[in-house]
Amino acid sequence: TLVSMKEMLIQAKENKYAVGQFNINNLEFTQAILQAAQEENSPVILGVSEGAARYMGGFKLVVTMVKELMDEYKVTVPVAIHLDHGSSLEKCVQAIHAGFTSVMIDGSHHPLKENIELTKRVVEVAHAVGVSVEAELGRIGGQEDDIIADIESAYYAIPSECDQLVRETGVDCFAPALGSVHGPYKGEPNLGFDRMKEVMELTGVPLVLHGGTGIPTKDIQKAIMFGSAKINVNTESQISATKAVREVLAAKPNEYDPRKFLASAREAIKDTVKGKMREFGSSGRA
Ligand code: G3H
Ligand code: ZN
Repeated sequence: TLVSMKEMLIQAKENKYAVGQFNINNLEFTQAILQAAQEENSPVILGVSEGAARYMGGFKLVVTMVKELMDEYKVTVPVAIHLDHGSSLEKCVQAIHAGFTSVMIDGSHHPLKENIELTKRVVEVAHAVGVSVEAELGRIGGQEDDIIADIESAYYAIPSECDQLVRETGVDCFAPALGSVHGPYKGEPNLGFDRMKEVMELTGVPLVLHGGTGIPTKDIQKAIMFGSAKINVNTESQISATKAVREVLAAKPNEYDPRKFLASAREAIKDTVKGKMREFGSSGRA
């Protein structure tokens, strides 16, 4: 069933596990993630960046593809289609209009006041039609599609500002940037758990951990303990998909049917996603 993130994240926070946001990049990603969720009996969030939506053919195509696959696979677990790092009110409205059940408005590059104003307007529109909203403060390092920030320019969200943003906007969940990075980490991640705990206590809403690729299990567990109820993963699925493709092509240099290596990529993504669902504790929670 297609739902917003609201209920699944409240459940997750209450019961100390996290729901994975797995980004979709094409048909095979979508197939793999939906199959993994159904087989693990896990709620799932399909993350769609603006770049990925563009690549696939637009928001409407994405929603149609997801709905058709859910029908085809007889998916019964809760699924949310979520705009990842929405860049403007217009993009959020377009996604909602196309049938997305959740949006993120990423106003983190704006000064606090503007971020709050922008997020407020998105919440107004989204909540009117039952769509959940995620906001962000601070700066996540690394690069994801159009979102680029040097690791050096990444900075940690300030708890009092997080509290103010959540309180004034009414968002359903909130991503405080606390040292996580998009793409692979250089060395061990250095997550600001003290601040995470503070943000949890101040805001009370489910928190979101971006840059889920490459975070050690002990840190995942800590993050969940400190209120993270949603963890975003993209790069790790991409890495396993591409590794599988390389292996097939290396073993069979004469292979020319893309379905042969794309099916392997799909299997690899599915395995990765299932592993994350178990690690995050969302397996069996649907
Ligand atoms: O918004 C998406 C995530 O934060 C993805 O991060 O590619 O490092 O797993 P990742
Ligand atoms: Zn992100």
